[in-house]
Amino acid sequence: MKRIFLTGFMGAGKTTLGRAFARAKGLEFIDLDWYIEERHHRTVSELFDKLGEEGFRRVESNLLREVAEFENVVVATGGGTPCFLDNMEVMNRAGVTVFLDVPVDVLFRRLKVARSSRPLLAQKNDAELEVFIREALERRMPYYGQSMLRFAADRLEDRRQIEVAVTQLSELLETTGKE
Ligand code: S3P
Repeated sequence: MKRIFLTGFMGAGKTTLGRAFARAKGLEFIDLDWYIEERHHRTVSELFDKLGEEGFRRVESNLLREVAEFENVVVATGGGTPCFLDNMEVMNRAGVTVFLDVPVDVLFRRLKVARSSRPLLAQKNDAELEVFIREALERRMPYYGQSMLRFAADRLEDRRQIEVAVTQLSELLETTGKE
């Protein structure tokens, strides 16, 4: 049985690295946002509109508990998942948690071109986006920091870099006895 949860801010590469890592290791890949969208037949933005953020967080937490029972999976969580309810505890009990650590300037570069599908970012201009990333990351660090492992995920820009990151993540899990 193996469950790996990737945590980290929006744009940290949870989906990109999680999918590649799962493929390399023959594990199932689950993106929690996509799982929520499938189950509720609505996009994350639509759920935010309909239920408000608080309602979305309840849905997210319920479905996190569901995927925390799957076996042999890599789960890319949402950027806010660790920061609400007892989600971090749920994940640390169910498997191995890995925080994808990426500096603000790299997150900003990635998120500048990926705002529209993210309800917390969609309305922000560049200047507001940068301030939001810096402030929200600082607020969220105490939660991300409860992950068992930390992995620098600032280089995921092309296939070669993703391959290297998959190998490094695999080594990190091995050397820490988490694999
Ligand atoms: C959120 C991150 C998003 C998604 C929602 C809220 C957040 O996931 O769950 O828009 O609060 O950081 P990604 O980290 O996959 O973008």
